[in-house]
Amino acid sequence: MPHLGLRGRLYTLIDDPFLQAQSDCVFSCEDGLIIIRDGKIEAVGDYASLRGRLSADAELRHYPDALLLPGFIDAHIHYPQVEIIGSFGTQLLEWLQKYTFPAEAKFSDPAHARRIADFFVAELLRNGTTSASVFCTSAPGSVDAIFAAAQDVNMLLLAGKMMMDRHAPANLLDTAQASYDESKDLIDRWHGQGRCLYTVTPRFALTSSREQLALAGALLSEYSDLRLQSHISENHAEVARAKELFPERANYTDIYAHYGLLVSRAIYGHGIHLSEGELWRFHETGAKLAHCPTSNFFIGSGLFDMARVRDAARPITVGLGTDVGGGTSFSMLKTMSAAYQMAQLRGLSLTTTQCYYLATLGSAESLGIAGQVGSLQAGCAADIIVLDPRATPLLRLRADVAETLDELLFALLICADDRAVAATYVAGELVYERD
Ligand code: GUN
Ligand code: ZN
Repeated sequence: MPHLGLRGRLYTLIDDPFLQAQSDCVFSCEDGLIIIRDGKIEAVGDYASLRGRLSADAELRHYPDALLLPGFIDAHIHYPQVEIIGSFGTQLLEWLQKYTFPAEAKFSDPAHARRIADFFVAELLRNGTTSASVFCTSAPGSVDAIFAAAQDVNMLLLAGKMMMDRHAPANLLDTAQASYDESKDLIDRWHGQGRCLYTVTPRFALTSSREQLALAGALLSEYSDLRLQSHISENHAEVARAKELFPERANYTDIYAHYGLLVSRAIYGHGIHLSEGELWRFHETGAKLAHCPTSNFFIGSGLFDMARVRDAARPITVGLGTDVGGGTSFSMLKTMSAAYQMAQLRGLSLTTTQCYYLATLGSAESLGIAGQVGSLQAGCAADIIVLDPRATPLLRLRADVAETLDELLFALLICADDRAVAATYVAGELVYERD
């Protein structure tokens, strides 16, 4: 396969700017080149010094006015909730009953699942998101649909069947044993097929029996390369209910820990109201959090304390998620903007570097896929986006006065949306082009 070269202004994170000096964490290049072969990045650097490595038959695509970044990675999103995005009123527990569960029930129909899955994947790509960790419904067919849609464009996608055997409408409930058996069957059929990664997905402690949580733990021990995704401590009423349902456990985190689910392969959405002791357990076990600011604002769940969670004395790895349909946008640019604004309300001004870290390498680290995606480095997949910093009249005006790349990127994350995504590459293939 011939080389492909992408030329433009490069920007990527290469390390964690919450723990290392910011300047050591970024690689950028005013006139850069990414050389791609067999879907992977072969070399990245300055155009003038690298151009000689492009073979004579290589195709070179030049984006002179654009920024080339690694594709965004959405660490937490629900594909069956696309249709209920922007549903009025209510907070978490009522929101689930009123909007979410009825929408998820529709996924017992495989045709509906496939239609929404195709829409969902296209929408991710249109927003420059090249990988995501996706919650399906309790219907195994919902997992088939999303993995099939992801495979059509060869994207790295993590997804799993929702395990939920109590406290939800009967048409969404499985049983502990059925959830184990169905998950296993899906693992056999999908895990490691192409770039699909099956992920054990108990919804949250409120909708799982003790037996079901134990079987989720059994799946994690049987398959050493499986990840787990769930929810924790998003809303005060939810935390109180978890304590009522598991009075024998010290706190919400202890419920998951007891069943072997608080491990470094696990990522939990939200974690807004975790106590200091619970944060220590996350740190000690290496379990991760997905921060979902547009959802937390929209459902009124609370203000995630990034400084506390990423405290260098006991850091917890955090990824950034949209949490659509609780979240209000597929755009990771808008999600970074919300993360910045939420941190401001907590007295912290996230830097440009920290925001882009969360949306790319940080999400990759939180999902255990760093080294494969999330950075423009040799050996990573060529999952690359082309951002147009002059996509709208306002952005053009703002870009014209930006004096540094950092300033330009910051204004972009605050003001831009899907219109700024000019093109999206997955494994070296152009899968979306705006114009
Ligand atoms: N907690 C349990 N299920 C969900 C869900 O679907 N969305 C959100 N935001 N929180 C949850
Ligand atoms: Zn969620």
